[in-house]
Formats: sequence, C-alpha cells, structure tokens
Amino acid sequence: MEALLCTKLGDPTVAISDSSPIVVSRSHPVPAIASPTSVRVRIAATSLNYANYLQILGRYQEKLPLPFVPGSDYSGVVESVGSAVSTVKIGDKVCSLATSDSFCEFIVTDEKELFLVPDGCDLVAAGALPVAYGTSHLALVHRAQLKPGQVLLVLGAAGGVGLSAVQIGKVCGAIVIAVARGDEKVRFLQSLGVDYVVDLSKGNIIESVKNFLKTRNLKGVDVLYDPVGGKLTKESMKLLNWGANILIIGFASGEIPVIPANIALVKNWTVHGLYWGSYKLHNPQLLRDSLMELLSWLSNGTISIHISHSYSLQEANLAFGDIKDRKVIGKVMVIPGSSSVGRSKL
Ligand SMILES: NC(=O)c1ccc[n+]([C@@H]2O[C@H](COP(=O)([O-])OP(=O)(O)OC[C@H]3O[C@@H](n4cnc5c(N)ncnc54)[C@H](OP(=O)(O)O)[C@@H]3O)[C@@H](O)[C@H]2O)c1
Repeated sequence: MEALLCTKLGDPTVAISDSSPIVVSRSHPVPAIASPTSVRVRIAATSLNYANYLQILGRYQEKLPLPFVPGSDYSGVVESVGSAVSTVKIGDKVCSLATSDSFCEFIVTDEKELFLVPDGCDLVAAGALPVAYGTSHLALVHRAQLKPGQVLLVLGAAGGVGLSAVQIGKVCGAIVIAVARGDEKVRFLQSLGVDYVVDLSKGNIIESVKNFLKTRNLKGVDVLYDPVGGKLTKESMKLLNWGANILIIGFASGEIPVIPANIALVKNWTVHGLYWGSYKLHNPQLLRDSLMELLSWLSNGTISIHISHSYSLQEANLAFGDIKDRKVIGKVMVIPGSSSVGRSKL
C-alpha cells in the first residue's frame, strides 16, 4: 500500500524527493489484523494537525522512533475484522484518532478506538472532527463550563481548533469574539455569524475588543480560548473579567506566554492547561461521550466542518506548507489512494 514515511526529522514542507524528511513508499506492508478485537480500516481521509508538523520538525512533546508513518485523526470504511469484534462490521463508516500510522491506505486498530459515523455526515469531514472539535468541546463545555451570554474570546479563530471553538461557543449561546489575520479569514468568520471579528492585520486587539464591548455594554471577556500564545496572550489578559477562565490550548506563535500568578490571584482567574489526547488515558469515557455528542451535532447540522484544502499523499508537503504559511481556514486533509496533482479545494 501507499504510505507517507518520515525517515528523518526536518522541514516537511520541502518538495518530496529521495532525500526529503518525508517520502512516499508505494510498497509499505498492509497491516495485519493483530488480535481478535482488531479492525482494519481503509482510510478515506486523515487530517493534518499542527502537532503532525511539529512532530516531523522534531519539536513535539511526543517523539516517535524513526522511520514512522505520521498519525492523526482519520475516517474510513471497515475492511476486515478480528474474530471477536462485536461493535462494528465490514462496510461500516468509522472515524478515530491515531497517534501514528494514518497517513497511508489502511490502518489496524482495536474496535474500542472506533466511532461509528452517523448517517448524514460527510465521511471526509468526520475525519477532521476528533482532534479539533474534541479539544474545543472538552475545553469549553467540560473545563470552562461556558454559559449562554458569557463573552468568549477565541485566538487563532480561523485555524483548526480555533474555528471549532467559535462554532461550539455559538452552540453554547456565548457572545463570540474571533481573532484572525487577513480579509479572507475575517470574511469567512463573519459569514458564520460570529458576534465580532478582530482583524490583526488592521489593528490592535485591545482597542478593537474594548470598542466592541462598549457598544454592547459588556465589561470584559469571561473565557479566553488560546491556541496561539506569545504577545497575543499577554494582550488578551488585559481584556479579562474578574473570575475569567483561561484555556491554554497551544502555542502556534512558537512563544510560551507567562501568566502572572499575582494577577490571577487578584482577579480570581482559573487557568486550565488542556491536553486533549491525554484524556484517552486519564478519562476515556468523557472523551468518548464528548465525541459521540459532536458526531450527533455534525449529523444534524448543529456544527459543520470547513475543509479549505485536500491533498493526495504525494502532495503531503503542500498540506504541511499550508499549515506553516497560515493559509488553512478550518482543516487541511490528506486523502490516501487519490492521485490528484496540485491543490484541490473541497
Ligand atoms: N491542547 C491540545 O490538546 C491541542 C489540540 C489540538 C491542537 N493544539 C495546538 O493548538 C495550536 C493550533 O493548532 P491548529 O491545528 O488549530 O493549527 P492551525 O490550523 O495552523 O491554526 C493556528 C492559527 O494560529 C494563528 N497563528 C498566530 N501566530 C502564528 C504563527 N506564528 N504561526 C502559525 N500560526 C499562527 C494562525 O492564525 P492567523 O494567521 O489568523 O493569525 C492560525 O490560523 C497548535 O499549537 C497545536 O499544537 C492543542
């Protein structure tokens, strides 16, 4: 089968060749059913998360031994099952999260790792849901307990996790302020009915948000959703209310912010560090319930997933390039087994 292999750490955006960090193998072994509860899935789509980019660069917290096939959330169709599998059958549409081995045509996993994709869901979109929407759902609903009428400030709002936070914030009934850079992203966020969009290419976040709050007679921000870090976090802290929740999601800016404990004390802030993947180990039932709720939202149209670009395995370097160059609106997907050349918009 065809598989994307990371053979050495380095920049995954360089053109794929025999000497690039990522290469395409056309004769990778199809994984065998490993136990009675194993399931083999023919992968329809696998999403590309910022973590995959960091992992190939060698800058992610979890390191895989070389060479490895990168892994992320994916969707597909059950192709083969072990003798004791009882929850899925051949032909079922499923999605799941892999920490390796999804950038290829087939993956083998245990049946308990799989989620049935309900009727009415686009199969490619279902492959983009677990990490981004799962992270924002646990963060906003479980950790911050976002309430109707509260003010939610989302940084990196047009990116993968940011856009999911914007949508889930609206589902919770919050007043959502989205922060992004550039006309295309701003127009897209406005089309979703976001209450206010800050365009960072046109001005300062503090002044812009303060002006908006004043027009609505609001005091400040109740929940900060932060996948960016750096200077933007520092500035956003000036907008937070007494008793605010700060959700630390990631550091796309490359800079880890400092949150002064004395100010957190005086303002009664709660700072939540959130690593979604670790719920699989520490509270798997919560993670499962959360994903089931999200899949039902996807099937009944409560949320929708925007995929700005999709690529074949041979074009995977272009997908990493879109993440690096901040071109993605929502998600970028890799479609194993497809042979499209160049960029395709779904
Ligand atoms: N905690 C968890 O469990 C968890 C789960 C998923 C993701 N994450 C983390 O969340 C972060 C975002 O992930 P994602 O998948 O949403 O990434 P993404 O789709 O690439 O979005 C990141 C956004 O951050 C903004 N940004 C600001 N400065 C940036 C910079 N210097 N470089 C790149 N982007 C910059 C960009 O918005 P503008 O261009 O509009 O400014 C971009 O849209 C990553 O650090 C990732 O590791 C954490």
